[in-house]
Amino acid sequence: MTIRMNGIFFLLLLLLSSHAGAVLLPRVDEMKRLVAEPPVEIEVIEPLLIEGKRQPHVVYLGYPVERVLRAVLGDQWKTAAAEIEFRALDGYVSHIPTERFDQYRAYLVFAKKHSRGFNLKSRAPDAKSISLGPYYLVWDNIHQPDLIQEGATYWPYQVNEIVISKAPEKNPVSEALSQPARELEKYCLSCHRVNGYGGNKSLVDLAEQTKMLGEKGFHAWVLDPSSIKPDSGMPAMFEGMPEPDRKALVARLFHYLNDLPRKQVDEHP
Ligand code: HEC
Repeated sequence: MTIRMNGIFFLLLLLLSSHAGAVLLPRVDEMKRLVAEPPVEIEVIEPLLIEGKRQPHVVYLGYPVERVLRAVLGDQWKTAAAEIEFRALDGYVSHIPTERFDQYRAYLVFAKKHSRGFNLKSRAPDAKSISLGPYYLVWDNIHQPDLIQEGATYWPYQVNEIVISKAPEKNPVSEALSQPARELEKYCLSCHRVNGYGGNKSLVDLAEQTKMLGEKGFHAWVLDPSSIKPDSGMPAMFEGMPEPDRKALVARLFHYLNDLPRKQVDEHP
């Protein structure tokens, strides 16, 4: 009964506010109480650890994300939202279209099986350990292997807040709905901003940065940031894709960003 009340309460809040509603995720023990089911084990090929052909498997503990969304937002979450944002402590924002959850199975996990730490460390000698908590969104890319191509896109970690939005109206990019616009949103705007829209990992406007770098510099950077800046906070993009597709995608993104008109929208004083 309390679960249902909570759901209705949150939904009311969301409907009453003209802005998209933000909901802080409860702590793990509270989450267990809300979902009222034992956590499940989910084995994935961990995209944050993929290096070349090596595909490490990791087993996590968590809940099917639909169970969590229902517990936190109420039964109508799917019809109420066109898109769900998963916001991370470090400024990463993943915008996930609601219909994607019908297409693919996702889990919100909070622990690694057989491990006290909830973090990841790649085998690279100077690799930093990535802390994943409080929550990490993972996808069943073993049973749905077409997900592997997308790498770590849509795998936000350190998630502590979700925001549901009815339609991505405030998004100046997706209005155009051209292929590169959608790709930009999907792959880059989780960390970057364009015209004030997007994540907070890098505060410089990505279109401005692109214009400054030029075509060659942009390609070199996006395909392998750490070859230019060894401690870069940006991962090499689209590593799961065949090389020609990767290059074509980077070329589309370059032309799209380079041709974007400059807008004087600056949210950062
Ligand atoms: C996981 C977060 C993340 C994602 C996803 C991401 N970036 Fe970045 N990017 C960064 C960070 C952080 C920087 C700042 C430089 C640094 O510290 O490494 C950066 C810097 C850049 C720069 C500036 C380089 C320079 O020399 O000024 C460009 C251009 C860029 N990113 C393009 C892209 C494109 C295009 C995409 C999508 C295909 C993308 N990024 C996706 C985190 C990300």
